[in-house]
Amino acid sequence: MVETLIPDAFTKLAYQTLQQGKAAFGLAHKNLSTRALKAAAATGLITAPSESYGSDISVEMLQLIRGRYEQLLQVDWEDAEKGIYPRSLLFDDAWDDFAKYYPALCLDLPQIWNRAQQKVSRDFSPEIDTAGLPNYYTQNFHHQTDGYLSDRSAQIYDLQVEILFNGAADAMRRRILAPLKAGLEVFKDEIPQNTRILDIACGTGRTLRMIRGMLPKVKLHGVDLSNAYLRKASQLLSQLPGELPQLTQGPGEALPYLDNHFHAITCVFLFHELPAPIRQQIMNEAFRVVKPGGTFVICDSVQLSDSPDLGMVMDGFSDTFHEPFYRNYTQDNLIDRLQTAGFVEVTESVHFMSKYLVAKKPLYGQ
Ligand SMILES: C[S@@+](CC[C@H](N)C(=O)[O-])C[C@H]1O[C@@H](n2cnc3c(N)ncnc32)[C@H](O)[C@@H]1O
Repeated sequence: MVETLIPDAFTKLAYQTLQQGKAAFGLAHKNLSTRALKAAAATGLITAPSESYGSDISVEMLQLIRGRYEQLLQVDWEDAEKGIYPRSLLFDDAWDDFAKYYPALCLDLPQIWNRAQQKVSRDFSPEIDTAGLPNYYTQNFHHQTDGYLSDRSAQIYDLQVEILFNGAADAMRRRILAPLKAGLEVFKDEIPQNTRILDIACGTGRTLRMIRGMLPKVKLHGVDLSNAYLRKASQLLSQLPGELPQLTQGPGEALPYLDNHFHAITCVFLFHELPAPIRQQIMNEAFRVVKPGGTFVICDSVQLSDSPDLGMVMDGFSDTFHEPFYRNYTQDNLIDRLQTAGFVEVTESVHFMSKYLVAKKPLYGQ
């Protein structure tokens, strides 16, 4: 209601200002933390960083990235303006969480740096039980403390991602919303309350939150291997009106759902963190549990074939952030994999540092 009273130009300016503020914050944090790291290393408090740590990217590369960032924001604004999702989603940031957990994030940095310098990748607090979890998963992705397996990690995750992408993480996630909405058109005779959407590897629930904002009445489900991240998702999602999404602990490669159960499935920022055979298994499982005619929408990192010009940045990301499967991911053929799983009409697109794949399960008889 308030949205209709506020002129478009003002809302757009507010959105641009917010994004500029987030970008400036991300850059300032990275700059200051790299300086603090080098100062602490000089006193012997932490392991000295490698020479290349925090080294500058070329001006041309920065301009290229900056241009892609601007394009992302423009598309984000346009999709909201078209009514694909409410403009309020553009401002849906967890400010109270960010303020509350920013000190914890900063205090954690020396441990992250030590792990990075000493190349330690399986370092968990003693109370964390990794039994029953896949070996590829029980690692400190991004060198983060406790990997994905503690409440502490879940509390600071969203803020870490926002800083990593200079405030563009949600704008990248929102690019799944238009194809998701379009994909549901085939089921337009279904009432929203009977429409089921699954988010695989839902993490702290950011994507589910956006889908709830766009489709307030549909049934939402999220699955993830991390109980800690699901707890955080439950906390954030219970702030919203409407039915609480059903959150389930489980692996994407053996989804705990019946065949042909969901009208659509989403999956954001997962595939680059998986060994290649698991990528295929998860696509096979998505195919099994989505209904004929249903859509599978993926958002993940760009790959080399999309953006050869970003090859250097991708290489740096793999090494600096402990992403053990990232290099293989950047060269994988995801379209082939989706088709092997049985999907058809696969399309792909790129926004900023992410790519999007949209695939359909054929209707019976097709
Ligand atoms: C990079 S985070 C992405 C989370 C969320 N989708 C987002 O947009 O922020 C990766 C998530 O995948 C989960 N995950 C990793 N491997 C998984 C698997 N095989 N099955 C289910 N979840 C998995 C992790 O626990 C973590 O929450």
